[in-house]
Amino acid sequence: MHWNTTLYKEKHSFVPEYGKELLQYVNLDPDQSILDVGCGTGMLAHLMAAHGAKVVGLDASEDMIALAKESYPDVTFVAGDATRLTFREEFDTVFSNAVFHWIQHQGDLLDGICRALKPGGRLVCELGAKGNTQNIRDAFSQAASHVGVEIQSHFFFPTVDQYEDLLMENGFVPERVVAFDRPTPLAEREMGLRNWMIQFLPVSDIPEHQRERVFQEVENQLRPRLWKEGRWMADYRRLRVVARKA
Ligand code: BEZ
Repeated sequence: MHWNTTLYKEKHSFVPEYGKELLQYVNLDPDQSILDVGCGTGMLAHLMAAHGAKVVGLDASEDMIALAKESYPDVTFVAGDATRLTFREEFDTVFSNAVFHWIQHQGDLLDGICRALKPGGRLVCELGAKGNTQNIRDAFSQAASHVGVEIQSHFFFPTVDQYEDLLMENGFVPERVVAFDRPTPLAEREMGLRNWMIQFLPVSDIPEHQRERVFQEVENQLRPRLWKEGRWMADYRRLRVVARKA
């Protein structure tokens, strides 16, 4: 996945903004060490570091890491694959917002995180839950199929039970695993939904000359359900997780 960092920063900064809520579960005392997995633009890593905690931000995207380093020179940022972590008992908390659903190999991810945590350390994360953005993804796949393109979804949006099982299989004791709806207003009014599709869905799989047709079909189909008070409201569902290393 290649990230359009400009579009992300300008139109989808709500992603880290919502992530601020997760910080209530993180001990931010100055003696704490925290790994932010999939730190993106670095905004949340910077906020945690501002409390005094020692924070390392990791992201697979070199472009995101470059942007994070430029924006927050006070924080350590490294490029790396979250499913191949090499840290050993270094962190009190591993934190992650809106990242795990991009990752196919959840066992490798959670196993690496467990090894990176000190004994008794915690994983605090949020990802999309089962049904996340279902209306938008279904409408997009359907419209794409009408122009001859089959969309393969690689997202991992689990149920509470599924994720609790994964946590336990990989060395964690789940402390809080909850799923909830979080309808999310998109920036830019009329353009909001297509900006979101361009950022998060495989729009580049659709030939350029067919994209306008696909966008319009999705917008027409979703307007009765997701256009509210002059803006698009995305049908996000979140899974919020706090788990302790066993
Ligand atoms: C999300 O953050 O929930 C999300 C990301 C990409 C596609 C769909 C949803």
